[in-house]
Amino acid sequence: MNRPPGPPGDRLAGNGPAYDRDRLGFMVEMSERYGAIWSFDRHIVVAADPATAGEVLLRTNTDFGGEVDFLHRKQKENAATQRQWASSRAARMRGMRPSAMQMKIPLIAARMAEAITAWGDDGDIDVVARMRTLTSGLGSTLCFSRDAHLVDGLEQELFDALLPVIRSPIALPSWLPLPRHRRVGRANRALERAVGRVIELRRVEGRTDSDDLLGVLARPTGRHGPLSDRVTCETLAATLLAAQSAPSSGFGWTVHELTGHPEVQERIAAEAAAVLPASGPITQAHYSGLEYTARTVREALRLWPPNWVYARHALHRTTLGGYVLEPGTKVMVPSYVIQRDGRWFPDPLRFDPDRWLPDGSGPAAPQYAYLPFGAGPLVCMGLSWSLIEMTLATALLVRDFTLRPVPGTTVVPDPARELTPSGLTVRLAARRDRRARPRERTGVVAAGGTGRVADFGCPMSSGSAP
Ligand code: HEM
Repeated sequence: MNRPPGPPGDRLAGNGPAYDRDRLGFMVEMSERYGAIWSFDRHIVVAADPATAGEVLLRTNTDFGGEVDFLHRKQKENAATQRQWASSRAARMRGMRPSAMQMKIPLIAARMAEAITAWGDDGDIDVVARMRTLTSGLGSTLCFSRDAHLVDGLEQELFDALLPVIRSPIALPSWLPLPRHRRVGRANRALERAVGRVIELRRVEGRTDSDDLLGVLARPTGRHGPLSDRVTCETLAATLLAAQSAPSSGFGWTVHELTGHPEVQERIAAEAAAVLPASGPITQAHYSGLEYTARTVREALRLWPPNWVYARHALHRTTLGGYVLEPGTKVMVPSYVIQRDGRWFPDPLRFDPDRWLPDGSGPAAPQYAYLPFGAGPLVCMGLSWSLIEMTLATALLVRDFTLRPVPGTTVVPDPARELTPSGLTVRLAARRDRRARPRERTGVVAAGGTGRVADFGCPMSSGSAP
């Protein structure tokens, strides 16, 4: 087989030890050395430029399979499970597309404002952990509204149980009766049982028209019939899991960059003061005005994409970039490397929200050079959901507080699962105008606004973003 060039590595251990020692550094260095498409350890190919990366992501489900999912591995194995996945995805999208999420802005903003105001009472805070608690609670509310308390927190237990499995350098089959696998099984069953109880409760009480994700999933469409209880359960459990992890890492990275850029904090604070109401509900119209804040989040996700590498495998013998790939060949797409490439983003390591100015003066990067939410058939379904959360959280936090790193602490990028700012602790100091403002309990409000939401999509991804 003609193979892409790549590092030979150690004669016995290959490149595994070098990769495990410094995954990000290894990917950056080898991509610089070997170019758009390279390989290591016989069965791994890396697609490190936008065109090849886009090709891999777009050919997912036809030529390349997605990563094997420890919990839902059967979901896309054959034609029947493919159909099931497609109808679950279509059903879920009705509740998660931008127009649906815009209606939730007042609710999300109210919950965020209440929680973030209280963060200031605690001095130095672990931002990622705080945001995880917040996004987890919001996830339950957006899925189950007033039944959320029946499920709340169980997905965090599942997430914690999954971490040691995902972090393990060797991926062992899930059927092996290891204590960590049993823990995942227990946590997953507890979560799915709780979701099942909510489904049953609503059926018994005849509540079929609730305005939450479960309510959306319960309504069949012309194209897709009703989902089975099992698929509904799995779909909601997977959504809850996704809802709390990546947004907290993305927000953590945004805050980390802000601690090093007081001038960006000042611009966000000014924008938030001008755009957000001093009291009362934050609507979609207010949210649309947070244009600089949204660009800041977008830039943080460029430098620090939580999904820093995509894993695929060749489903059959196929070609990529002129090379033949045998079935099972693993293909990695390191968005972290592509998004930090000076050919697409000049002065790439500089944190500069103005790269994304809407006047077109930003980078002329090619399609698929910016991939924080993926592209193609598996593109993130939570794009609007998470951008609303991260943008609002950033604006509300910086409106009320200045953010400083805590002396003596160091942030280390941890790529073991999602790329996370390990060790991030931030010192909050109340801004003067916050001290003057009465601290109100915002409560939860129901209605959406009427303004146009800013275009926060991924302009350079596939265009198929929801
Ligand atoms: C900063 C926040 C987020 C980032 C960076 C992110 C990123 C991604 C990426 C890159 C993928 C595709 C993975 C692949 O191609 O292998 C993905 C898939 C997905 N995301 Fe997100 N995500 C975020 C937030 C969310 C949220 C809040 C939700 C739901 C509430 C969500 C739900 C999903 C789902 C359900 C999929 C799987 C789609 C499928 O397999 O059909 N994501 N996400």
